[in-house]
Amino acid sequence: MASIRSVNWWRFSPSQILEKYQAHAFDRRFGTDTSTYVELRGLDVAGSNKRHGERYQPSPVHSLRQLLKKLAIRYQDFVFVDFGSGKGRTLLVAGELPFKEVIGVEFSEELHRKALLNLQRYPRRAAGQVKSVHADATAFEAPAQPLVVYFFNPFTRPVLERVLANLAASAVATPRRIIVIYLYLPDETWLAELSGFRLRKKVRNYHVFDFDPPVPVTNFGTATILDIPG
Ligand SMILES: C[S@@+](CC[C@H](N)C(=O)[O-])C[C@H]1O[C@@H](n2cnc3c(N)ncnc32)[C@H](O)[C@@H]1O
Repeated sequence: MASIRSVNWWRFSPSQILEKYQAHAFDRRFGTDTSTYVELRGLDVAGSNKRHGERYQPSPVHSLRQLLKKLAIRYQDFVFVDFGSGKGRTLLVAGELPFKEVIGVEFSEELHRKALLNLQRYPRRAAGQVKSVHADATAFEAPAQPLVVYFFNPFTRPVLERVLANLAASAVATPRRIIVIYLYLPDETWLAELSGFRLRKKVRNYHVFDFDPPVPVTNFGTATILDIPG
């Protein structure tokens, strides 16, 4: 007989039961198609990063909704970007809030097209605009607006680093508030050790960071741009 210690009691917590129920009920209720996992193997993909990509798997509905509702931001000021948006489950859930815009970036054309159909079908929309873009995450230029950037384990570290380097360059060019949410971060040090990332909170499997990269110091001969003229 299993000992009490070997039983994962959290699996039977009310929020976990609600999570499971909502995951199953979501597509049935709204006529969307977001639940089934899709392996990348059989998909045509834009760009050369397929080998670094993870399969499509939707974000959970209940916990994501709860997390986004508690961000304590003025949603109208922010653009939400989901890097590796697949069939668009997260775009639908984020679009329930009055974000200025919700953008998904997906490198599989098939999944991107599914997302477009799901967006047409989904009746709950408070965001100004919700769209799916067919592109590799490394080629996407984030809008120069305050951002909530979302990753649900979409790709391995080499691609993540390039996406974050683009984001850092954009933040330096146009300083603004950037919040990064990562669901199932494989290793906390990946982001915590990069300059500019400050962990704001951790809720279950979501890490929420403020991202404020330092402006690089440029040398001009012997002086630096930080020198104050005497
Ligand atoms: C785990 S799923 C996350 C789906 C979605 N974000 C959600 O929360 O429901 C990862 C997705 O990232 C996509 N992906 C992987 N590498 C990518 C890349 N380099 N550029 C754009 N999308 C990518 C995959 O095709 C897949 O749809």
